[in-house]
Amino acid sequence: MEKSEERSDAVLAVGLIGCGTMGSSHAKQMAALQEIRLAAACDVDETKARATAEAAGGTVRVYTAVEDLLTDPSIPAVLVATPNHTHRQIVLTALAAGKDVFCEKPMALTLADCDEMIEAAARHGRKLMVGQVLRLITVFSEVRRLVAEGVIGKPFAVRILRCAQRRTNEGPWSAAWRSKRANTGGLLFEVNVHEFDFMRSVMGEAAEVTAMADNFTRPDYDYEDHVIVTVRFRDGGLGVLESSVATVVGATEGLITGTEGSIHYDWGKNTVRYRRLEGETVDVPVEKDAGRSVQHELSSFAGWVLHGEAPVVTSEDGRRAVQLAEAAYRSASEKRTITIE
Ligand SMILES: NC(=O)c1ccc[n+]([C@@H]2O[C@H](COP(=O)([O-])OP(=O)(O)OC[C@H]3O[C@@H](n4cnc5c(N)ncnc54)[C@H](O)[C@@H]3O)[C@@H](O)[C@H]2O)c1
Repeated sequence: MEKSEERSDAVLAVGLIGCGTMGSSHAKQMAALQEIRLAAACDVDETKARATAEAAGGTVRVYTAVEDLLTDPSIPAVLVATPNHTHRQIVLTALAAGKDVFCEKPMALTLADCDEMIEAAARHGRKLMVGQVLRLITVFSEVRRLVAEGVIGKPFAVRILRCAQRRTNEGPWSAAWRSKRANTGGLLFEVNVHEFDFMRSVMGEAAEVTAMADNFTRPDYDYEDHVIVTVRFRDGGLGVLESSVATVVGATEGLITGTEGSIHYDWGKNTVRYRRLEGETVDVPVEKDAGRSVQHELSSFAGWVLHGEAPVVTSEDGRRAVQLAEAAYRSASEKRTITIE
């Protein structure tokens, strides 16, 4: 058989752990891909595991205990989409059972836990990828492409608004685990590891972080509903993130400024535009994401496990995003700027 035929025939069988909002979305996107398939669905809530297995069709096995799924020798890899505080233990157990692992963001709730997980993956000779998918969403990948092509020269400032409309308990935010810091890590872990990852991908590594956080509208949460973080990057650039679940007019947009021009994106409107110093404003056509970004990360995970192809997001990316969230909370509680190692 030709090598190219071998490549196209290989399919990664995956056991999904956690069949809630994100897990079922992964299962749906997997169905659109040739190179990866859902082989088992596991959830402590059997109804959810069954519903995900049935939606996928075919012969998807159902488990209610992670340990049982992990003893299934026909499943070489797992996708962990359980609440944040469970990631560390499930990932460590899966790696020890010899599985390659795709872990949803945030990778874990402390930098030390991330280090432990990366070390365990290396020790067991397994692969560990983290679902920092935002950088792959079409709007964000267009911005990253423009920056990488030098359209705005050297970027020196990034400003991001990730402000959701004030929510009553609806949609994913109705899950009881989301109201506690012990489960989520707080807004910066649950949501903004995405923005930290995106910032890093255009600005490089951070040198220092300062933050302020408070709860203005959500007495049912034991953590902030609004947070402002400033970052100084190692090569001198500046960053601001304002994140909220308390705004009334929501906004999910950003401005990246460089020596030769600026780029503005609006995720809500699916627009990217830039202007160079001497030029006109250019509207860049952006395809709707419509699941492309999740398919991209899943396909990359399969390509890494099956063929050794470099993954589009690494466990180090997941770790760095957690490091920024952790440092920002330390800054907010200690009321001082925190240096990033
Ligand atoms: N990449 C993204 O953009 C994105 C979007 C949403 C959620 N997420 C992440 O995905 C993860 C899940 O979020 P969600 O919105 O799907 O939550 P969810 O509450 O909808 O689903 C979590 C599921 O995990 C199950 N579960 C809990 N503990 C378990 C265990 N020990 N073993 C097996 N199943 C268990 C629950 O019963 C539930 O069905 C979180 O880490 C979240 O941050 C990522």
